[in-house]
Amino acid sequence: RKRKAVIAGNWKMNNTPTEAGLLLEALIPGVHDADCEVVVCVPFTDLCNVVAKCAGTNVHVGAQNVHFEKSGAFTGEVSADMLLDLGVEYVVIGHSERRQYFGETDETVNKRTLAALNAGLKPIVCVGESLTQREQGVTEELVRMQVKIALKDVTEEQVKNVIIAYEPIWAIGTGRTATSDQAQEVCAAIRKVVGELYGNDIAEGMTIQYGGSMNPANAAELLAKPDVDGGLIGGASLHAGKFCEIVDAAT
Ligand code: G3H
Repeated sequence: RKRKAVIAGNWKMNNTPTEAGLLLEALIPGVHDADCEVVVCVPFTDLCNVVAKCAGTNVHVGAQNVHFEKSGAFTGEVSADMLLDLGVEYVVIGHSERRQYFGETDETVNKRTLAALNAGLKPIVCVGESLTQREQGVTEELVRMQVKIALKDVTEEQVKNVIIAYEPIWAIGTGRTATSDQAQEVCAAIRKVVGELYGNDIAEGMTIQYGGSMNPANAAELLAKPDVDGGLIGGASLHAGKFCEIVDAAT
């Protein structure tokens, strides 16, 4: 493997702080000898407990969104500085569920990415096409555009801290995984556009994940592809056993 894999669980809106503690008690011992980077991206309300539980372990902690302003009259929002101060390291940005249900656009994804990077958080920027877009043959064009806009004004130094997650919307939570060839094709296209923007060295160093119904049965084949450097795992990350098996497949 050219790059160290990053396996990130995205719990979405699941697990109370109490439930989070129980899940981590099962998960942490199961991944302690992982060769890959292990991340759990959890609801805001779980962060405090999860940061405490993961301290001194190899499990890194992420949030699932961040506001782009530093502070101010934005009721209900959470800033990058707030997350950083709590001990959070990663943040998922532009997940398709946020684009679909909460008005996220490529432009707000870019603003959040810049805010996260400026504060010192590592963004996991999600891109991916709908089924209609795939059928219309515009997947690569669309994903290229999503990447370009997300990374607008991101410096060469900053982009080294960015992870891009390719998540075809039709594969999320549907049990319908992209084939490993489909995942490879788009992850390679993402690396190509990063190369056009920042040069080959930076593109070769970037972590590009696949997400969408990744599970213990299909993880090894997906992760064997040269441009698939990890996974963003939804449903299967809610089960310690399944998540640990995926982590094992990445090592
Ligand atoms: O962020 C994770 C993805 O949306 C994948 O979710 O593994 O439940 O399909 P899933």
